[in-house]
Amino acid sequence: PETGCLSITVLGASGDLAKKKTFPALFNLYRQGFLPSDQVHIFGYARSKLSDDELRDRIQGYLPQGQELAQVISGFLKLIKYVSGSYDSPDGFKTLDDAIYKHEVSRNTIEGSSRRLFYLALPPSVYPQICKMIKSYCMNKSDLGGWTRIVVEKPFGRDLASAEELSSQIGKLFEEAEIYRIDHYLGKELVQNLLVLRFANRFFMPVWNRDNIDNVQIVFREDFGTEGRGGYFDQYGIIRDIIQNHLLQVFCLVAMEKPISLKPEHIRDEKVKVLQSVLPIKDEEVVLGQYQGYKDDPTVPNDSNTPTFASVILRIHNERWEGVPFILKAGKALDSRKAEIRIQFKDVPGDIFKCKKQGRNELVIRLQPSEAIYMKLTVKQPGLEISTAQSELDLSYRQRYQNVVIPEAYERLILDTIKGDQQHFVRRDELKAAWEIFTPMLHRIDGGELKTVPYKRGSRGPDEADALVEKAGYVQTRGYIWIPPTFW
Ligand code: BG6
Repeated sequence: PETGCLSITVLGASGDLAKKKTFPALFNLYRQGFLPSDQVHIFGYARSKLSDDELRDRIQGYLPQGQELAQVISGFLKLIKYVSGSYDSPDGFKTLDDAIYKHEVSRNTIEGSSRRLFYLALPPSVYPQICKMIKSYCMNKSDLGGWTRIVVEKPFGRDLASAEELSSQIGKLFEEAEIYRIDHYLGKELVQNLLVLRFANRFFMPVWNRDNIDNVQIVFREDFGTEGRGGYFDQYGIIRDIIQNHLLQVFCLVAMEKPISLKPEHIRDEKVKVLQSVLPIKDEEVVLGQYQGYKDDPTVPNDSNTPTFASVILRIHNERWEGVPFILKAGKALDSRKAEIRIQFKDVPGDIFKCKKQGRNELVIRLQPSEAIYMKLTVKQPGLEISTAQSELDLSYRQRYQNVVIPEAYERLILDTIKGDQQHFVRRDELKAAWEIFTPMLHRIDGGELKTVPYKRGSRGPDEADALVEKAGYVQTRGYIWIPPTFW
């Protein structure tokens, strides 16, 4: 049952992810009434010796400020208890289990069942040992039902073999239905909108194919570098950090076939199919870059070949997409911060308006910042003359939905884990298919066979990447730029 006493344990409670994302997301859920204090308790677990209040103080620094929130913040912090222990020895986990059990006994006057959620805000190297400890000491014990679930974060391994190893270690301990692999891009509003946009609109269904679409770009740009996390980043690089997970998930939702229903398994079946239809990546369809100054970070080795930028073309071997390039591009320390999907249509056949000169139709889905869906199209230039101009049909969210607060990705996804909805989580076979696509290339980068080219910090990235996009068929519209409404 999805009711009854709920114990949420955040492992790695004093780490960066927990402070910046997990606890603020839990706070927002509490604030909106999703974590009622007569049912819920939150446990922070980590190695450091801290008191409950010390942990609460740390968390408070990352919660929204304001006098009007004082009461709700203090109510939330009261739900949090701290348990200290190591990640690989039974003692700490036995103490944790005792603490959870005490809480359950005290709350079980409401419902007899107990729900135990374990959020691993920790590096994957410790997942297997922690899962073993949870399995041995901390599982739900109520005879009246309930569940135990674990939530894990990427990186799930470094390549196909290590990911499979990790999956099988965890898979021996927990059922797939108990494992929630978070990819926070799946919690973003406009990513969640993709299936609705595609399959609830007659507009798009008939044109969503190789006959009409010329090329697709899925782009992530950040205007800051890897400062402060160079040590982590250098081990992984931009392909493992962003492309193999976040952008590939978006790719799946753009390219997959219509699922039989909205059941999580039906959706994930289609995602796996499209991933399995991706052809091997060609060397000439990859550009790797590293921003100048990346190696100044003392935690980054001087001879690092780790890409901080990559542009990779994926090609799908199926009836819908044969011949259509999907350009996945991600970079750090660039000139702007944004994430968007840009679907460019083919030229108008039998054109009488010189449309080609104006630029092509494009559907742009702007994930962030300033969520929007807009269509670039050609219209008659308003006025006496009959000339054409590029304009747009614009659905800018903040303008259209003025009183709606768009929830944070983590907030939504944590709520799904409590509700038991796996639709927006990565299934084991999906993860495997994702690694299959990128592993050969990653091994060649790690081996130094594929080299990164330098680019300037604060630039668009390497020139070679623009050349690649152009070669793939993308036609840049000169002199047109979409501007979010001045209202913002
Ligand atoms: C994380 C990456 O998964 O996503 C970071 O590890 C990146 O490198 C971040 O900065 C971006 O997330 P968002 O939601 O800010 O686009």
